[in-house]
Amino acid sequence: MNALEAIKARKSTRRYKPNAVEAEKIEQLISAANNAPKAGTFHISVVENQAVLKSLNDAALTSMKNSGNDFLMSRAALDGYQPLYGAPVLFLLSAPEGAPYNQANVSCAAANMTVAATALGLGSCYVIAPLLGLQAKPELVGKIGIPQGFVPVCGVLTGYSDGNAFETAKSTGNNVNYCK
Ligand SMILES: Cc1cc2nc3c(=O)[nH]c(=O)nc-3n(C[C@H](O)[C@H](O)[C@H](O)COP(=O)(O)O)c2cc1C
Repeated sequence: MNALEAIKARKSTRRYKPNAVEAEKIEQLISAANNAPKAGTFHISVVENQAVLKSLNDAALTSMKNSGNDFLMSRAALDGYQPLYGAPVLFLLSAPEGAPYNQANVSCAAANMTVAATALGLGSCYVIAPLLGLQAKPELVGKIGIPQGFVPVCGVLTGYSDGNAFETAKSTGNNVNYCK
């Protein structure tokens, strides 16, 4: 699969098989993140500890349910909804607190990871839901190993897809103009 094919094939995966992801593929995804455009630094925590993932998932679900945000509450109310979707791996991307371009830096890295995951035969999903879990259970920040002075900015779930679930609407793509 070439880069254009992977970009086209990528979509958010929201149901995963429990199978572990091979260490070699994890390394390739880290490399994809670190080869993204950046204007600053970020850190990658590779979370595979099942107890931590479950704790983060459960805290995120409770936060979504109690958020007062219509979209988050409607997602959390879906039958069987779990914000981490049973993924065996969460890459949590963090960046130095207060630094400029943190969101841009981690988003470029995360996007690269999702495309690379597709090329490697893995499902993936860019997620902010784990941040809600971390806000509710800050003790997980230390357990995950986010460095001192860094704040979590986004996550990328990965693992082997177990089919479609909790899909979102595709945009129409009518968002271009040309100035020639
Ligand atoms: C900033 C950002 C935050 C997102 N957070 C979540 C999330 O917490 N949970 C989730 O399931 N998807 C999340 N997504 C994925 C989007 O819902 C998804 O990319 C979009 O609906 C398009 O669908 P596709 O990825 O299948 O093309 C997020 C995407 C972005 C860019």
